[in-house]
Amino acid sequence: MARKQAYVGIDIGHSNIRIVQVEKTAGGVRLTKFAITETPADSVRDGLVRNPEEVGHAIKTAMKEAHMNAHRAVIAASGGAVYVRAVPFPKMNAAMLRESLKFEASRYVPGSIEDSYVEAEILENLNDAQMNVLLAAAPRDIVDGRIAACKAAGLDVRVVEIETFAASRALLETDQTKEMGTNTYILVDIGAASTTVSVIENGTYVMHRSMPTAGNTLTEGLKAAFKLETVDAEAGKHALDLAEFLTPEGQENPPLKVIAAHVDDLVRELRRSMNYLQTQSQGDLTTPTKIDGMFLCGGGAKLKGLDKYIQSKLGIPVKTIGVFENPIVTQTGVFSDTGVDLAVATGLAMRPVLHAA
Ligand SMILES: Nc1ncnc2c1ncn2[C@@H]1O[C@H](COP(=O)(O)OP(=O)(O)OP(=O)(O)O)[C@@H](O)[C@H]1O
Ligand SMILES: [Mg+2]
Repeated sequence: MARKQAYVGIDIGHSNIRIVQVEKTAGGVRLTKFAITETPADSVRDGLVRNPEEVGHAIKTAMKEAHMNAHRAVIAASGGAVYVRAVPFPKMNAAMLRESLKFEASRYVPGSIEDSYVEAEILENLNDAQMNVLLAAAPRDIVDGRIAACKAAGLDVRVVEIETFAASRALLETDQTKEMGTNTYILVDIGAASTTVSVIENGTYVMHRSMPTAGNTLTEGLKAAFKLETVDAEAGKHALDLAEFLTPEGQENPPLKVIAAHVDDLVRELRRSMNYLQTQSQGDLTTPTKIDGMFLCGGGAKLKGLDKYIQSKLGIPVKTIGVFENPIVTQTGVFSDTGVDLAVATGLAMRPVLHAA
């Protein structure tokens, strides 16, 4: 019975697949089982699982090795084509919203609405005629490919959400010290193939973007500049501390120069997201939105000194965070780090445990 009802959260990334199982504790959740495996080469591209059988096999093998026997999975969609934003809709009740969703959503969602899964949640009234709605959309092929991979692994997919919602649940929403309701945070997930940026203002997603500068960009930069093999460039990257680039001696360090140039591209994109937020809030004649903090997660955020470097460029508090820094997330002692790269998988695994599914 327990086995049948157990869930795993699966983060299908471009370079790694992470599988997490949690159990409920008095004050939150405990991470009890974990598996990680490399994503089979070239099997995930732009968020799309190109080879579900192969990915399914990798999931199955990794779960077996980690003695995970759950049958139900919670997964997420990611990639540049995923859309998340709070948008104004004409006022209507939830039933009417369901009826008219495709029509109303087609004004916002890029790409064909017929080829997308669309979800909406009523947030609050904006005025007599309009209400704010959180709109989330993902291309069908991205979602279906992931479901097919899980099916090939013998798993029953019960929930599909958006990666950033999962990461935010594990890192921010369930952490009472974060004061989501009154603060504006930017959550940045730096993966292998893409970086996603979500601006969450007073608990509402006001923007979500995906950009191609991510961990692999840095590795490729080192490979090209120093004619290195991938493994050596990767190892070299792990040994660097980008905070040193803020000192005069560090400025002369050739690998740091290469890394900093790419991180500066990322910083430019992050600044664009911040500027967008300012223009939005000036529209309603309020004072510009104060950004209370930027949080970095994902494997790419493990680059030493990255948060300090970005903070010095953007002038707002920037911190790399992991799931074990959230007081409600505990573990069995197997992890010695803070779980910077576990946010998506843990947030997915937490969902059915926190909200009875
Ligand atoms: N200690 C480290 N220092 C610097 N970079 C690191 C470190 N550890 C991992 N990375 C980088 O993290 C990236 C992988 O991150 P992650 O596993 O979160 O990606 P993913 O979820 O598979 O990809 P995506 O989110 O793009 O689908 C790689 O580019 C890797 O080089
Ligand atoms: Mg990822």
